[in-house]
Amino acid sequence: MEIGGFKVGDYAVRDEGGKRHLIFDCKNCVYSASVADDPACRYHLTTILSEAEADLIVLADVYERVYDEQQAKMLSEISALKQQFSIESIWSYKHLGGQGKECEQYFSGRHDTVVKIGHDLIAFDPIMAYLTLLKEIKLEKTKMSEGEKDYEKCTKPYINTLDHLRNAFEQTELITRTKNFITKMSQIPETSKVYHSLFEVEVKPAFIGSRLLFKEMEKLELLDEYGVKESTVQIFKHPHKTENLYFINPPEYTLSPDKYFVMSKTREVVAGYKPGKTSLSTVAKSRSYFERVYESTIKDVAKSNGVKLSQAEIKELAQIVARYTVGYGILELLLSDRRLTDIYLDSPIGQKPAYIVHSDFGQCQTNILYTEREASSLNSKLRAMSGRPFDEAHPVLDFDLPDLDTRVAAIGPPLSPDGTAFAFRLHKVTPWTLPQFIDNNFMNPLAAGLISFLIDNQSSMLVTGSRGSGKTSLLGSCLLEILQNARIIVQEDTLEIPVPYLKKIGYNIQRLKTRSPISVSKTESEVAPEEALRTALRLGDSALVLGEVRSKEAKVLYEAMRVGAAGNIVIGTIHGDSAYSVWDRVVNDLDVPNTSFKATDIVIVARPIRFSGSLKKHRRLVQVTEVKKHWISDPEQEGGLLDLMLYDAKKDTLELMEDNLKESELFDKISRISGLSMKEIWEDIRMRGNAKAFLVELKRENKLPLLLESENSSAANNKLILFKEEQLQEKGKIDYEAVLGKWKYWVKNSLLPSVAKT
Ligand SMILES: Nc1ncnc2c1ncn2[C@@H]1O[C@H](COP(=O)(O)OP(=O)(O)OP(=O)(O)O)[C@@H](O)[C@H]1O
Ligand SMILES: [Mg+2]
Repeated sequence: MEIGGFKVGDYAVRDEGGKRHLIFDCKNCVYSASVADDPACRYHLTTILSEAEADLIVLADVYERVYDEQQAKMLSEISALKQQFSIESIWSYKHLGGQGKECEQYFSGRHDTVVKIGHDLIAFDPIMAYLTLLKEIKLEKTKMSEGEKDYEKCTKPYINTLDHLRNAFEQTELITRTKNFITKMSQIPETSKVYHSLFEVEVKPAFIGSRLLFKEMEKLELLDEYGVKESTVQIFKHPHKTENLYFINPPEYTLSPDKYFVMSKTREVVAGYKPGKTSLSTVAKSRSYFERVYESTIKDVAKSNGVKLSQAEIKELAQIVARYTVGYGILELLLSDRRLTDIYLDSPIGQKPAYIVHSDFGQCQTNILYTEREASSLNSKLRAMSGRPFDEAHPVLDFDLPDLDTRVAAIGPPLSPDGTAFAFRLHKVTPWTLPQFIDNNFMNPLAAGLISFLIDNQSSMLVTGSRGSGKTSLLGSCLLEILQNARIIVQEDTLEIPVPYLKKIGYNIQRLKTRSPISVSKTESEVAPEEALRTALRLGDSALVLGEVRSKEAKVLYEAMRVGAAGNIVIGTIHGDSAYSVWDRVVNDLDVPNTSFKATDIVIVARPIRFSGSLKKHRRLVQVTEVKKHWISDPEQEGGLLDLMLYDAKKDTLELMEDNLKESELFDKISRISGLSMKEIWEDIRMRGNAKAFLVELKRENKLPLLLESENSSAANNKLILFKEEQLQEKGKIDYEAVLGKWKYWVKNSLLPSVAKT
């Protein structure tokens, strides 16, 4: 059977994220594939819905229209209503009027009306059917009140039938939602307008799986708006939700039908080409090559189909096609938004939109509904690129996406019983700096000065905190405080510290990559962390930076530190939430003896703080603690942990614990080794802090964020140390005020103008 251009039966029901998607192939539709625009389309859906159940309805052409659950329900109810009327046979004689020959004259007209309302019109235009019904009721009631006795007798049962229909219509969502509006209008309204308001729909190109959800935008408060590639990103505050909303509107979702057509055709043409395993890993590099190939295909397709496209339009389309063939699809846009820190796709995929963590707006729900099909293609892509297995026997895949400065962790069944889930961590391309941390209130200048001083005086430090508290970021900023003449060894299992960039700005770094302990698969080519560390130690006198201390390498590290073989500076991160928990973890979980643990000089704790009344989390440095050396079994009970700085949440400040300083063994030691008096030590620390604060001040005054970026912050740091050294050479003693003054002059007259110019 063929209705309105559809072949009935051209549909499929697919399970997607636990929802039944009814998918219609509308490629051969004569009319537009749209519930709002096309009565024939409504007729068709009503018919199909009598035999298939669905939670969502997808009309598939070169682009797809996806009707959500509420909209699908409205159509299903109308379909059910039509069936009910047929079963009740509401057009049979007994429903059309009273008994008796005198009534028969009315039956023919009434039969037509009821069939029209309850059989024909209901499927094409249910709102019009309802309005026709109301009109008929009104007409018959008026006639009855005016007419003779006979007419009343002949009409009463008919009125009952009409009332029954009316009741039934009014039970449906479609009529409930429109009744007030349409019945108030003086004329019979143009129903297509009403359908447009009810069946507003998401449209997306058929070859993109992800749907974009746009709902009730008018109630949302716009917090921010910016561009990412050719897309617009909007951040909204929802009146009833604690998390913000992140809406992205990529160009591929709003192209003209012509362009959709050209793009889909192009995709069909290029689908035959599948990059092999080896070329997949170089895909990022050959991206521009693919885009050029696609450009010429697009040109051909457009020409042979009579579509006119400008060169810029061709370029744009080629980029889109590349995104969905050799790229990461819509995810790629999220990965290009470097204001995001994390992207999460939870299982079962397709049930809930992706959510993200935004560096300025915290956790946000996105408008992207990723699909299982896309997830499985992402899976194979990740498997191919990593060269690692990812299956039931190896349910964790954890590695760095080449060229994207992003780490991906995928977990699958049986570990994640509801299917694969993904987490992406977007690394900052340039390392954080202490001045940036002062600028965003993560720490105060004094803490920055203290950290800088401790590193310069070769302390070993562990940075701790909960997940995402900023440990690795803080580690990177500490690394920048190491003098550039030192040799640095960086050991990580996932490459997060931007070593290439650091090298570029003058640091002397050797990087070691180790096997990730999270990954269940044991790829032989990767070296275990403890092995790598042994190698690192043999590389000679260097500063040692450890991405994360988490397993057996802890023993090797501490043993080396204890006997003084671990080089001059050792800094690393470790999961925990206080200095005490670091001790507990290192000694009790990682089996490092107490005596070795004492090789740690300082523990720094970062924590996301939620101020009272606010949902937003603010990262804060909350503790700088010295590990003293004279205790035996439990550092906390025996006073072995000495807080040098401690965070006060009421005042939102990190306070210097002046009384504790007198008990510090570390400062005594530094004083002994460096020959500096306690007064000089603190002058040095304050000078460093003030210098960094000065940069922040200048950045704010001149609206010049670049000034605090690592390149400049590190140059400024070098200069300060040089001026200090100069004074020492000239006068045999340091006047810290004078050094700072000279340095400030240099910053203002030399650094600032050169940064402002770029
Ligand atoms: N002080 C800060 N202010 C704003 N954003 C920050 C700050 N510190 C870190 N971030 C951002 O937060 C995200 C998480 O930081 P980071 O990777 O350093 O945390 P982590 O504690 O090492 O996490 P994990 O436990 O997963 O290793 C990063 O994207 C980083 O850029
Ligand atoms: Mg980290």
